[in-house]
Amino acid sequence: MDRGKTSLTLSCIGAGRAGKTLCRLFAEQQSELEISIGQIINRSRVSAAEAVAFIGQGRAEEDFENLSPANIWLIATPDNTISAVSESLAASGVLRKGDSVFHCSGSLSSEILSTASDTAYRASVHPIHSFANPENSVHHFSGSACAIEGDQQASAILTELFTGIGGNCFALNPDKKALYHAATVMASNNLVSLLSLSQQLLEATGVQTEGGDNILQSLAENSLNNYFNSDGVAALTGPISRGDNKTIEAHLESLKAHPDWQRVYASLGEIAVGLAAQQGYTSNEQLDTISNLLNPVNKSTN
Ligand SMILES: NC(=O)c1ccc[n+]([C@@H]2O[C@H](COP(=O)([O-])OP(=O)(O)OC[C@H]3O[C@@H](n4cnc5c(N)ncnc54)[C@H](OP(=O)(O)O)[C@@H]3O)[C@@H](O)[C@H]2O)c1
Repeated sequence: MDRGKTSLTLSCIGAGRAGKTLCRLFAEQQSELEISIGQIINRSRVSAAEAVAFIGQGRAEEDFENLSPANIWLIATPDNTISAVSESLAASGVLRKGDSVFHCSGSLSSEILSTASDTAYRASVHPIHSFANPENSVHHFSGSACAIEGDQQASAILTELFTGIGGNCFALNPDKKALYHAATVMASNNLVSLLSLSQQLLEATGVQTEGGDNILQSLAENSLNNYFNSDGVAALTGPISRGDNKTIEAHLESLKAHPDWQRVYASLGEIAVGLAAQQGYTSNEQLDTISNLLNPVNKSTN
């Protein structure tokens, strides 16, 4: 160990896509914290052994019978199992005063780790990163934002740990986690849903969008670039920004046969009306006319 380095052991329950990627990054990071990976506990020993091979450190386990102490416990099982897993961890008696236990859920706070509270410190760290491909994530995690909340002692050590692997850590109010997670879902999962809907609309016109030349790609990439390289408001172009109410009327008419598509169009259109009002390219009267077209669709129930 280098002079001045703090040496800690981290064990992981649930070394799937997120867990095994983070463990490998922790093991390889070169900060003042020297992390050695202790036990890796998955549902199956085969899966735990695969994770150990990926991480390059650790001992594979499949139950809570033979747990050894660790300074930090990462619970990276699916969200709906975190509470029960933390209870099993606490019941095993392996937790010592001063150890830290954390999970990576975006929507749950550290308070669900309730059974560990009287011995260990609790926190949650949500990396805003998709771990769909762990090998890619090892190389591209750096620069990801990480939302942290929990006990001060656990938050401090985890901030140091995640900063060491290139995370941009920020503090989150635990009471707002569900709303915060809804925001990240809108920018990621719902963005995918929106692009898929856009593709369905094109296909309904007979235009083929599959394959290497998806004609929506450069349009969507331009919009994302414009959004993130401006104050956001300036990125809005199109008929609502210009106040072209007749165009909106034609769009709504063309979507009449698909009320579900029409509703998505109208509710996102209302948000665009708000942005267009901030831009000021068109008059408030024009924007009111557009709102009057969109409102009935937004208020419809079927
Ligand atoms: N994936 C992402 O992009 C991402 C991003 C941010 C945050 N997160 C958070 O990270 C956490 C894990 O998500 P994930 O996508 O990595 O999940 P995942 O790939 O499905 O992996 C879950 C792992 O948990 C293990 N497991 C399940 N139940 C268990 C139990 N009772 N005891 C021990 N191990 C158990 C599984 O073991 P087996 O392999 O044996 O089945 C598997 O290795 C979640 O809280 C999620 O919200 C994920």
